[in-house]
Formats: sequence, C-alpha cells, structure tokens
Amino acid sequence: MKLLFVASECAPFIKTGGLADVIGAVPKALAALGVDVKVLIPAYPALADLAARGSELAHFPDLFGGDARLIAVTAEGLNLLLLEASHLFDRPGNIYLDAKGGDWADNHLRYGALSKVGAEVATGALTNWHPDVLNVHDWQAGLVSAYLRQAGKPVPPLVMTVHNIAFQGLFDAKVLRALGLQKSLFTPSGMEYFGQLGFLKAGLAFSDRITTVSPTYARELVSSEFGMGLDGLMRARQADLSGILNGIDLEAWNPETDAELAQTYSVRGLKGKAANRTALEARFGLKPNPDTPLFCVVSRLTSQKGLDLLLECLPGLVGRGARLALLGSGEAALERAYAEAASRYAGSVGVIIGYDEGLSHLMQGGSDAILIPSRFEPCGLTQLYGLRYGTIPVVARTGGLADTVIDANPAAMAENCATGIQFTPITALALDQAIERTCALFAQPKLWQAMMRRAMRHPIGWDRSAAAYLALYQSLLDERGAS
Ligand code: ADP
Ligand code: GLC
Repeated sequence: MKLLFVASECAPFIKTGGLADVIGAVPKALAALGVDVKVLIPAYPALADLAARGSELAHFPDLFGGDARLIAVTAEGLNLLLLEASHLFDRPGNIYLDAKGGDWADNHLRYGALSKVGAEVATGALTNWHPDVLNVHDWQAGLVSAYLRQAGKPVPPLVMTVHNIAFQGLFDAKVLRALGLQKSLFTPSGMEYFGQLGFLKAGLAFSDRITTVSPTYARELVSSEFGMGLDGLMRARQADLSGILNGIDLEAWNPETDAELAQTYSVRGLKGKAANRTALEARFGLKPNPDTPLFCVVSRLTSQKGLDLLLECLPGLVGRGARLALLGSGEAALERAYAEAASRYAGSVGVIIGYDEGLSHLMQGGSDAILIPSRFEPCGLTQLYGLRYGTIPVVARTGGLADTVIDANPAAMAENCATGIQFTPITALALDQAIERTCALFAQPKLWQAMMRRAMRHPIGWDRSAAAYLALYQSLLDERGAS
C-alpha cells in the first residue's frame, strides 16, 4: 500500500507541538507494517540543508506567484517530500507567525499551496509513485480534499485527521479566487463556515473518513462544548469518525539512552533519576527537598492548557513544600504571570520562557510529576513522555488525558494498576486537591515507586495505533475495490 501524509510539521525537523511528534513517528510504525509512506511538508529554512541533498521530483513554475519544487529526501527513517517554495516558506522565526506574533498574512496561500501540491501528488504529479490512500493532518492540509473534489478525475480515498479542532484555518471568502477554488464547493455543507472559507471544514466535509487522536476526544467533538462550532458537522459525520490514540516514538523518548539526561536510568534501576532531579533543580534555581515532589510543566502557554488554573494553585503547592519547574512559551499574559511567580516564590518555582527540545527531555527525566490541567486535550503527549520516564502525570480528565492515565483511586490502588492522578471538574480547586493527593502519595515511597514502575511499563508505543490506521486505510481500499 502506498500512503501519502500531508502535514505542516514533522519532528525532528520542524516542530511547534505534538503534531510534529506524531507526523515524525506514525510513518515509521506504518513502514514496519509494510506500508510505503511518504510525508509531504514545506521546506522551511530549518530544512534547507536536507532539501539541498535531495532530488527534484516535480517542478511547479507558478505556485501562487512563485517557483516551486518538490524534493525527495530520506532522513531519520522517513521518506520526505519537501515543498520548496521560497516565496511562501523562506521566512525567519515561527513557521506560522510573523515577528509581531500575528499569523503570516498569506497563510492561506502558504498552506493552500501545500494542499494543492498534495492533491497534485495524489493525481499523478510523480511519474513513479501514485498513492493509494491519503491521510492529511489539521487545517494546514485541509484543502487537499477540496482540490481533489475539483480534479475532474478519479482520486484516492482520503482520511482527515483532526489533532486540534480549535485551529480551523478560517479566511475571508475573497481568497477563493487566489487559491483557484471553485465557488460551487463554497456552501454551508462544503467548505463555507458562516461566510468564511474554512480549511479544516473543507477537510471534514470532503474526506472519506475522519479520525482524531483519542477515543474520548472523538466522543467530545460531537458536543457543542468541545466541537468549537463544528460539532454539527461532526455529528453529521459521526459514522465516519473514529479516535485512534497517539503513541510515542520509543527511540526518541527513552530514559535508558536519552543523551539529554544527566544520567540515564531504567525501570529496573531508578537510581539515575536522582541525578536528573539535581540537574533540573540547578537549572531552575530550586531548593532541593527530598521529602516533596518536584512538579514540572512543559507546554504551550495558552488557555487550552489550563495553566491559569495552576497559577491559582501555586500558594498551596509551595505551602506544601513542593517545587515547580515550568518550561513554556505562548500568551504574553501567562508568560508574565509565570515570570512574576518565579520571583515571588524564588527557590520553589522556577520558570524558563522559551522553547527548548533538549531541556524538555531533562524535565521529563528529572521531575517527579508532570502537571497537565488542560481544559481540552485531543490527546496530549507530555503525559505519555511522563509515563515513559516514571514522571507521574497529574492530568485533567478530558480527551486523551482521560484515555492514557489510570487514576490512583482506591480501586486502582487495590488492583495495583494506577499510573497517575486524574482530576475533574477542571477547576483550580480540583487541581489543588490533585496536587495534594500527589504530595500524599509521594510521601509513601513504596507506593510511589511501584506507581513509577507501572507507569514506565505501560505500553505507549505506536504498534496498536499504527495497526488501527492501517486497518482503516485497508477498509477504504476494500470499499473502493468492492464498488
Ligand atoms: P500540543 O501539541 O497541544 O502543544 P502535546 O502534548 O501533544 O500538546 O505536544 C506538545 C509537544 O511539544 C511535546 O513534545 C512537548 O514536549 C513539546 N513542547 C511544548 N512546549 C515546549 C517547550 N516550551 N519546549 C520544548 N518542548 C515543548
Ligand atoms: C494537538 C493537540 C494535542 C495532540 C497533538 C498531536 O496539538 O493539542 O492534544 O497530542 O495535536 O496529535
């Protein structure tokens, strides 16, 4: 089976969040099942060296106002198709945002171009490789489906994967013309969203199947509370919607080999974790205290992640003698509030504002628990990294957080199966109680260590989910074959 992935990020080459981790990992797991996968992403500046050693497969002399090329290169076990279009992607800084922190004004052209080229590859742009199935990810690849609708020839089946319905790619309807999209597709049952063009909406309306990244989020998406205005469409397409839980790359995230750690460790030898804790305390200027947990946060600082709730809990956390190390960047008000908290609670709360992949590994290695109080969370990966590193996840009961962490309630403790702490409702009070429960468990070293070991043994690789994706693709091909 030949499969084309289209996405805007892919780890370890270019990453702003969990989407990249998933796009960098699933293709490898699918390849192990015999699938021939190619991943189409833009050739941002960070990928320039990679593109330079690739080979040109296709040339588009005028892709929305400039010259573009499709470059094939294999790296880190992935077969990449890099869309080189300097007028669209050769920009400094964040891939989505300009220097002032606003969206690039031509994001519709940038990701319209990615989608258009995805559709071209699907309909024969490459001489030697024709995909049997497409899987496109998030709004940036949503228009692939629209371009396929207007291709005027048979097209492969298409799966649209929603990693976060909060990001919909909405643009003024007047961009339709520049994108070369037919007006006939611009209807409320198609890609129109209350007078605007919706990239994600197109993907949801025109795809053969929709997946999202956890079973609980799949159920949540059809509700007005979580559907972000697209819940009606999600309800209409419920029969085609399924949740396939994210896994993690077990090689990239492995405490036994992780080069970013001060000391590696394993489920059989947890001792090394202490050296990482010491390194983290030094890095964040925290006072050591072996009797209380060192909590961490590694996150985008946005309202999705509920970190305003954690601010309210800091007096309680510090009052219990616990410490917090936070690494994150995002909304200016949250960045400021955490910087202030770090000076108010110096020695107990340490904050680094920024994005640092290496440090994110050390945080998983050196903390006792990771806090994830998200208001909604399609899957979440940092709780999975926490499990793998024996860093107990303390999570809001929502989306993929609900599906991946087993709460240390009395029944789970009696059965020896708890791997973390869940709390609900998603309020500061419930989060504070969860922090208190965590401190109480930490004070019982035998129970705590047993929980760490269970967390580390919990299966979170891609095997099962890759098989689920493969079964989905196969069912689409079988349907086509039968018709
Ligand atoms: P989301 O994609 O919604 O941001 P996920 O939990 O799925 O949430 O994935 C976030 C990914 O980004 C994880 O790999 C996490 O380690 C990483 N990450 C988030 N913030 C930072 C940061 N400031 N520095 C380094 N890595 C970060
Ligand atoms: C999105 C979601 C996150 C998910 C990630 C990868 O960024 O916010 O919950 O883990 O995509 O699927």
